[in-house]
Amino acid sequence: MEEHGGKNQRRERKTTMKKLLVTGANGLLGKSLCRTAQKNKDYSVFGMYKDNKPTLQDLTFSCDICDKHLLDSAFRRISPDVVIHTAALTDVDKCELDKKSCWDVNAIGTKNVAEVCKAIDTHLVYISTDFVFDGEKDSRYKEDDKPHPINCYGASKFFGEKVVSSLERSSIIRTSGIFGKRSSRGKQNFPLWVLESIRKKEQISVIHDQFYCPTFVQNLSDMTLEIVDRKMFGIFHCSGKTKTSRYEFAKLVAGSYDLDESYIVPKSFSEISFVAKRPKNTGLSTEKIWTMLKTKPLELQKAVGLFMEEDLCD
Ligand SMILES: NC(=O)c1ccc[n+]([C@@H]2O[C@H](COP(=O)([O-])OP(=O)(O)OC[C@H]3O[C@@H](n4cnc5c(N)ncnc54)[C@H](OP(=O)(O)O)[C@@H]3O)[C@@H](O)[C@H]2O)c1
Repeated sequence: MEEHGGKNQRRERKTTMKKLLVTGANGLLGKSLCRTAQKNKDYSVFGMYKDNKPTLQDLTFSCDICDKHLLDSAFRRISPDVVIHTAALTDVDKCELDKKSCWDVNAIGTKNVAEVCKAIDTHLVYISTDFVFDGEKDSRYKEDDKPHPINCYGASKFFGEKVVSSLERSSIIRTSGIFGKRSSRGKQNFPLWVLESIRKKEQISVIHDQFYCPTFVQNLSDMTLEIVDRKMFGIFHCSGKTKTSRYEFAKLVAGSYDLDESYIVPKSFSEISFVAKRPKNTGLSTEKIWTMLKTKPLELQKAVGLFMEEDLCD
């Protein structure tokens, strides 16, 4: 009897499960979103990738967002209730050097995703960036501040925001400096680079007068999935709570791991030349989500503690 009850319950649960499709499922954020949604939520999760198949889940498929025809047939076949679109070219300097690829993927690819979601009437959640701002504001950027990107990556992501916002059911999540232990395809993120460099006894130059809000990937996944669950539409700044410089962040990471901080050399923003122009101050205001979400943006110290505990095995 009990077994039958269990089966019925499972059948019942299956029919009420929502279908969640994540693009960029093998990226830093995509991976974390898929894993979190699979563990904790009543979602059946479909992970879309381009070249690198995610290993953590069963329901994966390959599709290039630049191929609208393929995208359209894949989305229609799955018929997702929600799409979280994380796929993008995220190397800001490479985007500047190869503007065509950057625009094709981040701008036109996102337009393709938005158009297909519109055609199948699906809630689209788009992951955007603090780099849509020019960084000239002294205080933190709010959701209704006017974007003014200063590099190709920022411009392509802002174009994505414009096409996504034309949908009736869309959420735009702007975030900043995502970090986590499970880097995708060996891609570095800031604390991993700091740890690796100091362990190799290499000196690193780190900027002390450029500010942003580093975001722990698990915290971002939790906030994003709450926005999905509660069908919250509009623009949301989902970053970490602490506004800091890379220099202070590097020292926090080194100190937390009891490593020698003298390898971290402070440099001024004006001393370092990047291929792509960088905004100087992209601190995002998290006031709106602080009042609206149950999941709160984390202080950086707390986030680094969780980063240290992050288990790479699950
Ligand atoms: N990382 C940050 O600090 C940061 C800060 C602010 C905002 N964001 C935004 O957050 C999102 C996630 O960032 P992330 O760092 O997690 O990204 P990521 O690790 O660089 O992963 C991006 C993924 O996009 C996929 N992709 C690239 N081109 C594609 C295409 N043409 N078709 C389909 N998939 C494609 C790649 O799939 P394959 O590996 O299979 O090729 C890759 O796994 C991005 O939209 C980014 O703009 C990131």
